[in-house]
Amino acid sequence: MKNTVLITGGTSGIGLALADRYLKDGNTVIICGKNEEKLKKTAEEHPGLETVFADVSFETDRIRLFETIKEKYPGTNILINNAGIQQRLDLTAMDWAVWKKEIATNFEGPIHLCGLFIPFLSGKENARIINVSSGLAFRPPVWVPVYGATKAGIHSFTFTLREQLKDKGIMVQEIVPPAVRTNLGGPGIHDNGADLDAFADSVYSDLLAGKEEIGFGFTNGTADRTRREMEEGARRR
Ligand SMILES: NC(=O)c1ccc[n+]([C@@H]2O[C@H](COP(=O)([O-])OP(=O)(O)OC[C@H]3O[C@@H](n4cnc5c(N)ncnc54)[C@H](OP(=O)(O)O)[C@@H]3O)[C@@H](O)[C@H]2O)c1
Repeated sequence: MKNTVLITGGTSGIGLALADRYLKDGNTVIICGKNEEKLKKTAEEHPGLETVFADVSFETDRIRLFETIKEKYPGTNILINNAGIQQRLDLTAMDWAVWKKEIATNFEGPIHLCGLFIPFLSGKENARIINVSSGLAFRPPVWVPVYGATKAGIHSFTFTLREQLKDKGIMVQEIVPPAVRTNLGGPGIHDNGADLDAFADSVYSDLLAGKEEIGFGFTNGTADRTRREMEEGARRR
């Protein structure tokens, strides 16, 4: 079947690479981003790609994004929470506005969008929510401490979301990237990461196959290390 896919943060990196693959297979793809110039340029360079301006760190933008999707793309059946930022932070010198932005983008945004989209996706054919966490969800990164915490939180949330939606007809998948060569954190920071196309090809094929937790390289199976504890915890009240 052909899908209609919303990818948050699709103007570059992993989001754009996945957008290209869904497009190539004849799906309708909508990306959102917080930079209007970049959105326009991306749409020009990727014919067929639909765009919506929305900064997922703002509650009002998330609600507007949801309303736009409902109205303009009512057939949307896949939500990919991909938008993210990564900041090197010194925890002894707080700048709350900076820390808060990372929490709002990586953690609050995806959770709010899940809540908004669940009733809308419910009952749709091949309905899916796909959240992008990180290998750093499982290995606390001292250099990007708030980032690591948001990603550990998104992993936990995605696990419980899958449990709660088990009989509701919405598949919940998690992408757990290792370091991938994108501009995350600023140009050059991830130059030693995995090749973006090799990563995206592998992840896309695992997504289509319905795999629940999708790693690449060292993040393959990384979540299994704590699975027993998480499953026990998920069933406890
Ligand atoms: N690359 C890695 O090594 C790696 C590893 C683990 C996990 N990840 C995760 O993969 C996801 C994608 O990252 P990437 O590596 O592809 O980095 P990227 O190339 O920097 O892409 C991030 C995307 O998110 C968008 N974005 C950022 N803040 C946003 C906001 N507030 N509202 C809407 N869009 C926003 C950016 O677009 P605009 O700036 O145009 O809005 C951009 O399209 C992130 O969640 C990241 O944490 C990446």
